Amino acid sequence: MDRPDTDDSLSAPPGAPPVSPVLDRVLVLEMVRVTEYAAIAASRWVGRGDEKSADQAAVSAMRNALNRLDIRGKVVIGEGERDEAPMLYIGEQVGTGQGPAIDIALDPLEGTTITAKAGPNAMAVLAVAEQGGLLQAPDVYMEKLAIGPGYPPGLVSLEKSPSENVCALADAKGVKPADIIACVLDRPRHEGLIRELRALGCGIHLIGDGDVAGVIAVTDPDTTIDIYLGQGGAPEGVLAAAALRCVGGQFQGRLVFRNEEETARARRLGITELDRIYDLEDLARGDVIFAATGVTNGSLLEGVKRLANGRITTESVVMRASSGTIRWVFGDRRGDPPLL
Ligand code: FBP
Repeated sequence: MDRPDTDDSLSAPPGAPPVSPVLDRVLVLEMVRVTEYAAIAASRWVGRGDEKSADQAAVSAMRNALNRLDIRGKVVIGEGERDEAPMLYIGEQVGTGQGPAIDIALDPLEGTTITAKAGPNAMAVLAVAEQGGLLQAPDVYMEKLAIGPGYPPGLVSLEKSPSENVCALADAKGVKPADIIACVLDRPRHEGLIRELRALGCGIHLIGDGDVAGVIAVTDPDTTIDIYLGQGGAPEGVLAAAALRCVGGQFQGRLVFRNEEETARARRLGITELDRIYDLEDLARGDVIFAATGVTNGSLLEGVKRLANGRITTESVVMRASSGTIRWVFGDRRGDPPLL
């Protein structure tokens, strides 16, 4: 029987999308199991200097977990195109083939290098939406811009320079540009951006990897990060946008193409307007569920802890756009889950 999500939707924030009859509420908690499995599998490889094995373990665990669910899932953002990814490739069908037809964007291990080096903010992440709800982004870079909730719509934009955006944000926050803290991936390609931000006197939180957490950090005042700027993976941009659809905040993304092969990748996925600026709703539409489990400790989540006697603890978050509900799930289990 179809039941409306009455209790959760009572707390829906103004402007929230309607509850999707396709995304069953049971799915919300099922998604946590999926990211938990991937994170636990990857956690065996934390600090082992082996990115490939860490990723492989997470991918295979996430796929096993997804295939046990009664869904007709289609991977729209995954490990790559079919010829380059044996599992969780773009277009792969997952689930038992019974139940709701949903699109899934996933990154079984966001932060493979972080995991290999035991750095901060590695996570297992996924987002689900109704069919067509998530942009099928090619695996190219995306220029990203994000700020937290509570600011006037359109306050910042990729059409403006980083300095203009920082000044607009500082104005709205009632502080000086030099008081603004920006999060930026520590990459040579960001040299100019970093110089521009330093000239304003901004604090720059440089991250080695993991820009899904970097973008989400703007929504949490505890991180003190006000704005996210710079280029990271486009798939990670869609995942971060899904999270911001649930918790609020502003995000814009624009695909970056470095060569013909990359533009061809986009065209294969049906993208024709190559220089388009995507807003949150263009990246993740309608009702969306976002789930993540920490692999290593980070700004959003604690990592997996392997304790005495095979005890394993996990921290996950799962959120839904239609209700604005955010659930923090602490897992405490004896031993690795089956099928890892
Ligand atoms: P992986 O998990 O694939 O290693 O990605 C980590 C990451 O830092 C993402 O968070 C980010 O979007 C992307 O890599 C940036 O790419 P690059 O390392 O090429 O600058």
